[in-house]
Amino acid sequence: MYKDFFGLKEKPFNVTADPNFLFFSKKHREAFEHLIYGIKEKKGFLEITGEIGTGKTTLCRALLTQLDEKSRSAFILNSNLPEVQLLSAIAADFGLLIRPKTKINILSELNRYLIEQLKLGYNVILIIDEAQNLRAAQLEQIRLLSNLETDKEKLIQIILVGQPELRVKLDSPGLEQLRQRIAVRYHILPLDRTEIDAYIYHRLHVAGSDGNIAFGPDAISEIYEYSGGIPRLINLVCDRALLLGFVTENKNISIDMIRHAVEEIEGYVKI
Ligand SMILES: Nc1ncnc2c1ncn2[C@@H]1O[C@H](COP(=O)(O)OP(=O)(O)O)[C@@H](O)[C@H]1O
Ligand SMILES: [Mg+2]
Repeated sequence: MYKDFFGLKEKPFNVTADPNFLFFSKKHREAFEHLIYGIKEKKGFLEITGEIGTGKTTLCRALLTQLDEKSRSAFILNSNLPEVQLLSAIAADFGLLIRPKTKINILSELNRYLIEQLKLGYNVILIIDEAQNLRAAQLEQIRLLSNLETDKEKLIQIILVGQPELRVKLDSPGLEQLRQRIAVRYHILPLDRTEIDAYIYHRLHVAGSDGNIAFGPDAISEIYEYSGGIPRLINLVCDRALLLGFVTENKNISIDMIRHAVEEIEGYVKI
Protein backbone atom coordinates (compact mmCIF):
# COMPACT_ATOMS: atom_id res chain seq x y z
CA MET A 1 0.00 0.00 0.00
CA TYR A 2 2.98 2.32 0.45
CA LYS A 3 4.43 1.37 -2.93
CA ASP A 4 3.00 4.34 -4.83
CA PHE A 5 4.09 6.87 -2.23
CA PHE A 6 7.71 5.69 -2.50
CA GLY A 7 7.52 5.06 -6.26
CA LEU A 8 8.22 1.34 -5.92
CA LYS A 9 7.21 -1.45 -8.32
CA GLU A 10 6.93 -4.00 -5.54
CA LYS A 11 7.34 -4.28 -1.80
CA PRO A 12 11.08 -4.33 -1.06
CA PHE A 13 11.04 -6.14 2.27
CA ASN A 14 8.82 -9.17 1.96
CA VAL A 15 9.98 -12.15 4.00
CA THR A 16 9.50 -14.62 1.15
CA ALA A 17 12.64 -16.29 -0.23
CA ASP A 18 12.61 -14.45 -3.57
CA PRO A 19 15.94 -15.04 -5.35
CA ASN A 20 15.55 -11.86 -7.43
CA PHE A 21 16.32 -9.88 -4.29
CA LEU A 22 19.48 -11.80 -3.44
CA PHE A 23 22.23 -9.56 -2.16
CA PHE A 24 25.67 -11.10 -2.29
CA SER A 25 27.11 -10.29 1.10
CA LYS A 26 30.56 -11.73 1.72
CA LYS A 27 29.03 -14.77 3.43
CA HIS A 28 26.34 -15.36 0.84
CA ARG A 29 28.93 -15.13 -1.90
CA GLU A 30 31.14 -17.65 -0.10
CA ALA A 31 28.23 -20.01 0.53
CA PHE A 32 27.23 -19.75 -3.11
CA GLU A 33 30.76 -20.47 -4.31
CA HIS A 34 30.97 -23.50 -2.04
CA LEU A 35 27.79 -24.84 -3.59
CA ILE A 36 28.87 -24.21 -7.16
CA TYR A 37 32.21 -25.85 -6.45
CA GLY A 38 30.63 -28.92 -4.83
CA ILE A 39 28.22 -29.33 -7.71
CA LYS A 40 30.77 -28.82 -10.48
CA GLU A 41 33.27 -31.13 -8.87
CA LYS A 42 30.56 -33.68 -8.08
CA LYS A 43 31.43 -33.87 -4.43
CA GLY A 44 28.39 -35.88 -3.34
CA PHE A 45 27.16 -34.39 -0.07
CA LEU A 46 27.15 -30.68 0.69
CA GLU A 47 25.85 -28.98 3.82
CA ILE A 48 24.62 -25.42 4.36
CA THR A 49 23.63 -24.29 7.82
CA GLY A 50 22.51 -20.99 9.32
CA GLU A 51 20.08 -19.57 11.84
CA ILE A 52 16.48 -18.95 10.77
CA GLY A 53 16.27 -16.04 8.37
CA THR A 54 19.91 -15.94 7.31
CA GLY A 55 19.02 -16.58 3.67
CA LYS A 56 19.50 -20.32 3.16
CA THR A 57 16.33 -20.91 1.14
CA THR A 58 16.81 -17.74 -0.91
CA LEU A 59 20.35 -18.80 -1.75
CA CYS A 60 19.19 -22.26 -2.86
CA ARG A 61 16.52 -20.74 -5.08
CA ALA A 62 19.15 -18.47 -6.60
CA LEU A 63 21.38 -21.47 -7.14
CA LEU A 64 18.61 -23.26 -9.04
CA THR A 65 18.25 -20.30 -11.39
CA GLN A 66 21.99 -20.43 -12.12
CA LEU A 67 22.42 -24.10 -12.94
CA ASP A 68 23.36 -24.79 -16.54
CA GLU A 69 21.30 -26.81 -19.01
CA LYS A 70 23.31 -29.92 -18.21
CA SER A 71 21.77 -30.13 -14.75
CA ARG A 72 18.69 -31.77 -13.32
CA SER A 73 17.43 -30.67 -9.94
CA ALA A 74 14.86 -31.37 -7.27
CA PHE A 75 14.16 -29.07 -4.35
CA ILE A 76 12.41 -30.51 -1.29
CA LEU A 77 11.13 -27.70 0.92
CA ASN A 78 9.28 -29.77 3.45
CA SER A 79 11.41 -32.65 4.62
CA ASN A 80 9.18 -33.41 7.58
CA LEU A 81 7.62 -36.40 5.82
CA PRO A 82 7.53 -40.12 6.51
CA GLU A 83 10.29 -42.03 4.72
CA VAL A 84 8.33 -43.30 1.72
CA GLN A 85 6.60 -39.95 1.20
CA LEU A 86 9.95 -38.22 1.29
CA LEU A 87 11.34 -40.55 -1.38
CA SER A 88 8.18 -40.13 -3.35
CA ALA A 89 8.43 -36.32 -3.14
CA ILE A 90 12.01 -36.49 -4.38
CA ALA A 91 11.06 -38.71 -7.32
CA ALA A 92 8.09 -36.48 -8.18
CA ASP A 93 10.27 -33.38 -8.15
CA PHE A 94 12.60 -35.05 -10.65
CA GLY A 95 9.48 -35.56 -12.76
CA LEU A 96 9.23 -39.32 -12.23
CA LEU A 97 5.81 -40.87 -12.21
CA ILE A 98 5.87 -43.99 -10.09
CA ARG A 99 3.10 -46.53 -9.53
CA PRO A 100 2.65 -48.15 -7.10
CA LYS A 101 4.52 -45.93 -4.70
CA THR A 102 6.31 -48.55 -2.71
CA LYS A 103 9.74 -47.94 -1.28
CA ILE A 104 11.36 -50.58 -3.48
CA ASN A 105 9.71 -49.19 -6.57
CA ILE A 106 10.70 -45.62 -5.89
CA LEU A 107 14.30 -46.53 -5.08
CA SER A 108 14.74 -48.63 -8.18
CA GLU A 109 13.18 -45.92 -10.36
CA LEU A 110 15.43 -43.29 -8.83
CA ASN A 111 18.47 -45.49 -9.44
CA ARG A 112 17.44 -46.09 -13.01
CA TYR A 113 16.92 -42.34 -13.46
CA LEU A 114 20.35 -41.48 -12.05
CA ILE A 115 22.12 -43.92 -14.35
CA GLU A 116 20.17 -42.65 -17.32
CA GLN A 117 21.05 -39.04 -16.50
CA LEU A 118 24.71 -39.96 -16.20
CA LYS A 119 24.62 -41.50 -19.67
CA LEU A 120 22.99 -38.36 -20.99
CA GLY A 121 25.70 -36.27 -19.36
CA TYR A 122 23.48 -34.56 -16.78
CA ASN A 123 24.56 -33.59 -13.28
CA VAL A 124 21.74 -34.39 -10.86
CA ILE A 125 21.25 -32.16 -7.83
CA LEU A 126 18.93 -32.71 -4.89
CA ILE A 127 18.39 -29.93 -2.36
CA ILE A 128 16.71 -30.79 0.92
CA ASP A 129 15.66 -27.73 2.90
CA GLU A 130 14.92 -27.74 6.64
CA ALA A 131 17.02 -30.89 6.83
CA GLN A 132 17.36 -30.51 10.60
CA ASN A 133 13.89 -32.09 10.67
CA LEU A 134 15.07 -35.35 9.12
CA ARG A 135 15.19 -38.31 11.41
CA ALA A 136 18.19 -40.63 11.45
CA ALA A 137 16.38 -43.25 9.35
CA GLN A 138 15.56 -40.68 6.67
CA LEU A 139 19.10 -39.38 6.63
CA GLU A 140 20.34 -42.93 6.22
CA GLN A 141 17.92 -43.42 3.36
CA ILE A 142 19.23 -40.32 1.68
CA ARG A 143 22.75 -41.55 2.12
CA LEU A 144 21.82 -44.79 0.41
CA LEU A 145 20.40 -42.80 -2.49
CA SER A 146 23.83 -41.38 -3.06
CA ASN A 147 25.52 -44.75 -2.81
CA LEU A 148 25.43 -45.21 -6.48
CA GLU A 149 28.62 -43.87 -7.94
CA THR A 150 31.12 -44.48 -10.67
CA ASP A 151 34.83 -44.76 -9.94
CA LYS A 152 35.41 -41.10 -10.37
CA GLU A 153 32.26 -39.25 -9.47
CA LYS A 154 28.98 -39.30 -7.60
CA LEU A 155 25.79 -39.71 -9.58
CA ILE A 156 23.90 -37.25 -7.44
CA GLN A 157 24.91 -34.17 -5.51
CA ILE A 158 22.84 -33.78 -2.37
CA ILE A 159 22.68 -30.45 -0.58
CA LEU A 160 21.43 -30.65 2.99
CA VAL A 161 20.23 -27.24 4.17
CA GLY A 162 19.20 -26.54 7.71
CA GLN A 163 19.34 -24.71 10.99
CA PRO A 164 22.39 -25.22 13.20
CA GLU A 165 20.72 -28.28 14.78
CA LEU A 166 21.45 -30.07 11.51
CA ARG A 167 25.15 -29.99 12.28
CA VAL A 168 24.50 -31.38 15.75
CA LYS A 169 22.28 -34.09 14.33
CA LEU A 170 24.88 -35.16 11.80
CA ASP A 171 27.42 -35.43 14.60
CA SER A 172 25.30 -37.96 16.44
CA PRO A 173 26.37 -41.61 16.67
CA GLY A 174 25.02 -43.82 13.90
CA LEU A 175 25.42 -41.15 11.24
CA GLU A 176 29.19 -41.47 10.87
CA GLN A 177 28.93 -42.81 7.37
CA LEU A 178 26.91 -39.85 6.19
CA ARG A 179 29.00 -37.35 8.13
CA GLN A 180 32.19 -38.64 6.54
CA ARG A 181 30.76 -38.15 3.10
CA ILE A 182 29.92 -34.50 3.49
CA ALA A 183 32.62 -32.93 1.39
CA VAL A 184 31.60 -29.28 1.52
CA ARG A 185 30.17 -27.43 4.51
CA TYR A 186 29.30 -23.80 4.97
CA HIS A 187 27.68 -21.97 7.86
CA ILE A 188 26.01 -18.68 6.87
CA LEU A 189 26.56 -16.00 9.49
CA PRO A 190 24.37 -12.88 9.74
CA LEU A 191 25.40 -9.70 7.93
CA ASP A 192 28.06 -7.42 9.41
CA ARG A 193 27.11 -3.91 10.49
CA THR A 194 28.98 -2.59 7.46
CA GLU A 195 26.83 -4.65 5.08
CA ILE A 196 23.41 -3.52 6.30
CA ASP A 197 23.25 -0.30 4.24
CA ALA A 198 24.18 -2.11 1.05
CA TYR A 199 21.66 -4.86 1.79
CA ILE A 200 18.82 -2.37 2.36
CA TYR A 201 19.63 -0.23 -0.68
CA HIS A 202 20.03 -3.33 -2.83
CA ARG A 203 16.54 -4.52 -1.95
CA LEU A 204 15.11 -1.01 -2.48
CA HIS A 205 16.80 -0.83 -5.86
CA VAL A 206 15.44 -4.23 -6.96
CA ALA A 207 11.97 -3.08 -5.88
CA GLY A 208 12.29 -0.13 -8.26
CA SER A 209 13.38 2.69 -5.95
CA ASP A 210 14.90 5.66 -7.76
CA GLY A 211 16.98 6.52 -4.71
CA ASN A 212 14.51 8.85 -2.99
CA ILE A 213 14.27 6.74 0.17
CA ALA A 214 16.98 7.36 2.76
CA PHE A 215 17.90 5.51 5.94
CA GLY A 216 20.08 7.64 8.21
CA PRO A 217 23.27 6.10 9.67
CA ASP A 218 21.82 5.99 13.18
CA ALA A 219 18.65 4.38 11.81
CA ILE A 220 20.84 1.70 10.22
CA SER A 221 22.70 1.18 13.51
CA GLU A 222 19.37 0.72 15.25
CA ILE A 223 18.31 -1.84 12.63
CA TYR A 224 21.55 -3.69 13.27
CA GLU A 225 20.94 -3.62 17.03
CA TYR A 226 17.52 -5.12 16.58
CA SER A 227 18.30 -7.67 13.87
CA GLY A 228 21.82 -8.74 14.72
CA GLY A 229 22.30 -8.72 10.95
CA ILE A 230 19.69 -11.40 10.26
CA PRO A 231 18.11 -10.50 6.91
CA ARG A 232 14.65 -11.74 7.86
CA LEU A 233 14.56 -9.39 10.87
CA ILE A 234 16.01 -6.52 8.84
CA ASN A 235 13.14 -7.02 6.39
CA LEU A 236 10.52 -7.04 9.12
CA VAL A 237 11.71 -3.79 10.64
CA CYS A 238 12.30 -2.03 7.30
CA ASP A 239 8.85 -2.97 6.06
CA ARG A 240 7.29 -1.49 9.19
CA ALA A 241 9.47 1.60 8.97
CA LEU A 242 8.39 2.24 5.37
CA LEU A 243 4.79 1.94 6.44
CA LEU A 244 5.45 4.58 9.11
CA GLY A 245 7.17 6.73 6.50
CA PHE A 246 4.12 6.46 4.29
CA VAL A 247 1.73 7.33 7.10
CA THR A 248 3.78 10.39 8.09
CA GLU A 249 4.63 11.25 4.45
CA ASN A 250 8.33 11.01 5.06
CA LYS A 251 10.89 9.38 2.78
CA ASN A 252 13.76 9.84 5.24
CA ILE A 253 13.68 6.96 7.68
CA SER A 254 14.93 8.14 11.07
CA ILE A 255 16.13 6.27 14.14
CA ASP A 256 12.85 7.15 15.88
CA MET A 257 10.87 5.51 13.12
CA ILE A 258 13.01 2.38 13.46
CA ARG A 259 12.44 2.34 17.23
CA HIS A 260 8.75 2.78 16.69
CA ALA A 261 8.75 -0.04 14.09
CA VAL A 262 10.55 -2.36 16.50
CA GLU A 263 8.03 -1.60 19.24
CA GLU A 264 5.21 -2.43 16.89
CA ILE A 265 6.81 -5.70 15.82
CA GLU A 266 7.56 -6.72 19.37
CA GLY A 267 4.03 -5.73 20.35
CA TYR A 268 2.62 -8.04 17.73
CA VAL A 269 4.92 -10.81 18.85
CA LYS A 270 3.59 -10.54 22.41
CA ILE A 271 -0.02 -10.90 21.29
N1 LIG B 1 21.50 -12.38 0.94
C1 LIG B 1 20.23 -11.99 0.91
N2 LIG B 1 19.82 -11.08 0.02
C2 LIG B 1 18.54 -10.63 -0.02
N3 LIG B 1 17.58 -11.07 0.80
C3 LIG B 1 17.93 -11.98 1.72
C4 LIG B 1 19.26 -12.49 1.82
N4 LIG B 1 19.30 -13.38 2.83
C5 LIG B 1 18.06 -13.45 3.31
N5 LIG B 1 17.24 -12.61 2.66
C6 LIG B 1 15.81 -12.39 2.90
O1 LIG B 1 15.52 -12.69 4.26
C7 LIG B 1 14.32 -13.45 4.37
C8 LIG B 1 14.62 -14.80 5.00
O2 LIG B 1 15.42 -15.54 4.11
P1 LIG B 1 15.30 -17.13 3.94
O3 LIG B 1 16.04 -17.49 2.72
O4 LIG B 1 13.87 -17.53 4.03
O5 LIG B 1 16.08 -17.60 5.24
P2 LIG B 1 16.26 -19.05 5.83
O6 LIG B 1 15.89 -20.03 4.76
O7 LIG B 1 17.71 -19.13 6.21
O8 LIG B 1 15.37 -19.12 7.04
C9 LIG B 1 13.77 -13.55 2.95
O9 LIG B 1 12.87 -12.49 2.72
C10 LIG B 1 15.00 -13.37 2.10
O10 LIG B 1 14.67 -12.87 0.82
MG1 LIG C 1 14.47 -21.50 4.80
